[in-house]
Amino acid sequence: RGGFTHPSFTILANQLLSQAHMHAKYGGVFPNLAKREHSKSILPLCILALKEAKLLEKKKKAPLTDKEQSFYKELLTREPDIIEPFIDLLSQTKKPKIDAIAVTAGPGLEPALWVGINFAKALSHAWDIPLLPVNHMEGHIVASLLEKKKTSKKEIILPKVSFPALALLISGGHTELVLMKKWMKYKKIGSTRDDAVGEAFDKVARMMNLPYPGGPHISKIAKTVKDNSSRFSLPRPMIHSKDFDFSFSGIKTAVLYTIKEIPKLTPKIKAEIANEFENAVTEVLVSKTLRAAEKYKAKVILIGGGVSANERIRNTFKKELKEKFPKTKLFLPTQDLSTDNALMIAAAGYFQSISGKIKSAKNIRARGNLSL
Ligand code: KG4
Ligand code: ZN
Repeated sequence: RGGFTHPSFTILANQLLSQAHMHAKYGGVFPNLAKREHSKSILPLCILALKEAKLLEKKKKAPLTDKEQSFYKELLTREPDIIEPFIDLLSQTKKPKIDAIAVTAGPGLEPALWVGINFAKALSHAWDIPLLPVNHMEGHIVASLLEKKKTSKKEIILPKVSFPALALLISGGHTELVLMKKWMKYKKIGSTRDDAVGEAFDKVARMMNLPYPGGPHISKIAKTVKDNSSRFSLPRPMIHSKDFDFSFSGIKTAVLYTIKEIPKLTPKIKAEIANEFENAVTEVLVSKTLRAAEKYKAKVILIGGGVSANERIRNTFKKELKEKFPKTKLFLPTQDLSTDNALMIAAAGYFQSISGKIKSAKNIRARGNLSL
């Protein structure tokens, strides 16, 4: 509701199924497993969401015609797990009161993206509603604005965003600074030249035998360090460079060398390294973002992506902005909406639908490196 000026949402359902624990033993996302699990879970998860929203109504069983069945079989040919239960769902339930379906089109792992897209295409055809391809990173930007009302966890009224707005996107695959002159208009002004910041957290965690995803574990042990005068010192790559690019592979390598020189990696030493690593990353992110905000006269800073759940990064941004640019507004996602979720994709889809740029479902494809 409310267009671009007073957008608000009511959450009817929000379901999430994380695969993170399954990939833990590989120390990162294992592509085949990701695709397979995605294809196994997507329909049951969708049914759960429809039930939570009270939108799933049974009807008298009406089998699909052979023609309809073969249409879905072809569309879902690469997702054979879905075909039978999907046909069952259609023959037993009424069309729910849904106006459109938003689906992630990229960036990400293409085989996994295709599962979502093909499934969404099948639903969009069956229910005769539009399909909205959403950029995953746009979802993370919108997530920073989805603060639930204190009085009701289901109601969201988006705050007013003044432009230009600067978005810092920090996730497992991305680290970028994006300038927005208005809604849906993006200009990338800087990005990482090597590892994404979340990737650096994950790799450093792995070097210290901490589970995947590493970010929350690094953060947890770093918190146990009370005295900030660290024995270890890590670089702050590109902190003074004139551009707005980042580089995190140097810090990662510096951690590797630090660890090699230590005869025994005790929990205390691990915590100190984690603490220094988190400090180094935070300083670089905050310093460059604030400098970009100053240069482009940003009225608002939006932070999104899995790494924005990090408490030190959140608190340092709040503190530094208050001290240095008290007029600049800061928006951070609530911690549950920092990592990947469907709510942000639905909200970004809403903005796309009111912008009137609706693509024909047939032309929607998965794009691994889709940019904003
Ligand atoms: O956005 P996201 O859920 O997935 C991608 O789109 O990549 O981000 C996942 C990344 C992982 O690298 C994970 O280690 C990191 O976010 N992450 C964190 C924290 N929570 C998740 N990094 C630092 N501190 C955290 N508390
Ligand atoms: Zn993400």
